[in-house]
Parts: sequence; C-alpha cells; structure tokens
Amino acid sequence: MLWRRITFLQLAFGALGLFGQNANSRWWAWPANPDPQAAERGKSVFTAHCAGCHGAKATGTAKGPNLIRSRIVRKDVDGSATAALVRTGVPGKGMPPVPLADPEMKELVAFLQWTLQKYDRVSFGVPAETYPLERLLTGNAEAGKAFFSGAGGCTSCHSVTGDLAGIGRKYAPVFLQSRFLMPRATKPKTVTVTLPSGEKVSGELRTINNYDIVMKDSAGQTRTFDAQTTKAEVQDPLAGHIALLPKYTDAQVHNMFAYLWSLQ
Ligand code: HEC
Ligand code: HEC
Repeated sequence: MLWRRITFLQLAFGALGLFGQNANSRWWAWPANPDPQAAERGKSVFTAHCAGCHGAKATGTAKGPNLIRSRIVRKDVDGSATAALVRTGVPGKGMPPVPLADPEMKELVAFLQWTLQKYDRVSFGVPAETYPLERLLTGNAEAGKAFFSGAGGCTSCHSVTGDLAGIGRKYAPVFLQSRFLMPRATKPKTVTVTLPSGEKVSGELRTINNYDIVMKDSAGQTRTFDAQTTKAEVQDPLAGHIALLPKYTDAQVHNMFAYLWSLQ
C-alpha cells in the first residue's frame, strides 16, 4: 500500500538522517549512559519535584514541556546545564526554581538520561524533518569494513561469516541502523553481589533498585539481597555497544551502515 510505503520511507530517512548533519549543526545528541542505580533513585526525585508539570514519563503536560525533546537536556552530557536551569527556574514562564542538593541533582540527571535512552531505543526519537535518499547512500562500505575489523573493534565479538552473516537481509534499513547502534541483547545482564562477609554470589539480574537486588542464581533459585548492605556489580552484554555510541562520528555510522547493508 502506497501510504504505508511513504510512512515507512519517511520514518527510515528521518531516523537515518539523524546522522546526516555534522555534529555541531544537529541538535540531536545521544544521551549519556547513566548509572542505572542512580537513575532508579532519580526517578523518585523526578516524581516528587517535576512529574506534576512535566509528566510521569517526562513527555510533558499542559503545565510543562516535553523534556525528552528538550535541547537543553539532550545536549547536556554532564548534567550541568539541566542543574543550572532547575536551580534558577525560568522566571515568569511557569518553571519554578527547585533547589536540589548535588546528590539528588545527579540522580535526577541520571534518570533523565536513562529516560532518553529508553525512549530512543523504541522510537529512535525521529525528528519531524525528513531527509533525501542521497544521505543514506553517502557511506563507503569499504571504509565501514575497515572500521569493523579495525578501530571499531567489532570482530572481538562478531564475525561477518558467523553471527552477522547476511545481516543486511535480516532487517529493513531503519531497523538495521538501530540494531547495530543499539542491539537487543539475547543474553541477560548478570550481577555479582558481594555480601558483608565478603562472599560473592553471581547470577542473572532480575531487578536492581535502591533496596533490593534480585537475581536467579546458578542453581536456578531466585534470590533477593539487601542493596543497602551488599555491593552489586552489573555486567551488561551490550556494554560494548553502549561504549561505542558516543564515539561514532557521523561518517563512521554511514560507512558502517553501508558495509552491513552490503552483507546480503
Ligand atoms: C510548576 C511546574 C513545573 C515544575 C514543578 C517543574 N517545571 Fe520544568 N518547566 C516548566 C515550564 C512551564 C517550563 C517551560 C519554561 C519556558 O517556557 O521556558 C519548564 C522548562 C523546563 C526545562 C527546559 C526545557 C527546554 O528545553 O526549554 C527543563 C530542563 C525543566 N523544566 C526541567 C525540570 C525539572 C528537572 C524539574 C524538577 C526538578 C522541573 N522542571 C519542575 C514547569 C515546571
Ligand atoms: C563487547 C562485544 C561487542 C562489540 C565490541 C560489538 N558488539 Fe555488536 N553485539 C554484541 C551483542 C552482545 C549483541 C546482541 C546480540 C546478542 O546478544 O547476541 C550485538 C548485536 C549486534 C548486531 C545485531 C545483530 C542482530 O542479528 O540483530 C549488530 C548488527 C552488531 N552487533 C554490530 C556491531 C558492530 C558494527 C560493532 C562494531 C562497531 C559491534 N557490533 C561491536 C556485542 C558486541
């Protein structure tokens, strides 16, 4: 159906076009990778002080704008701009000053960044603009191939004749792009908990928050630990991908796309 195709193409080129402008001209930036425990605590700070106007999911209400689309929040990798705005408010515009202490402010920023990441993974945060096809085709597959086995370090986890064989066929373009930037993990996160006695217990992570750490241990038992008296170390199978996100240049993203797309 024609309308479907049009919608799909607009979505595809809109998302791919995120990388079609140079870093200075685009307002878009990948959110920083927040500490999940801080983000969890930041959620209660946000709920107490901000959600009333900006909405429980930060997507805005009649009393305050959508923060997921806020340029200030998006561009604020270290959290300082958000902190400054929150502390002074926007006089006369309905945004009151909210004097938070540093630790709370850090947690709040971690929550906002976590929210951005979550949002981007589902919707790619596609901006309204659409982009011409040429932008998608500017990548150089040879350069992508070199990056794959060189500076990108992809071969330490992947092989184009093994797990990524035919990857160009597996997904429609927009999904291929999002999958190599932020894949879905097929393996769960794991966690190692250090008890007050020094004993360590590892397992598949189920939940982690301010109070509890829940895991499935190697015997298949669900175990809950007190987060206040133990130390937890989370291993994310996607850590390699998360670490790559802020490092890619636009050109590298285009080249990598061209290379993966060529693996038909
Ligand atoms: C009483 C309602 C209210 C509360 C509470 C509130 N805000 Fe706002 N906020 C607003 C309004 C209205 C604006 C838009 C101001 C303007 O037009 O410049 C705004 C603007 C902002 C912006 C700038 C958005 C942009 O890109 O221009 C940020 C960031 C922000 N708020 C964060 C927060 C955070 C974080 C909290 C909680 C600590 C919070 N706000 C609490 C009403 C509120
Ligand atoms: C530290 C290990 C690691 C590194 C380095 C790494 N990846 Fe991945 N990649 C993963 C994991 C884990 C997945 C999720 C799939 C899974 O769990 O098997 C994944 C998934 C993918 C997928 C989606 C596969 C599918 O079938 O959906 C693509 C495409 C991909 N990676 C490309 C790359 C590229 C390109 C690079 C280098 C720029 C790279 N990866 C670097 C670990 C890594």
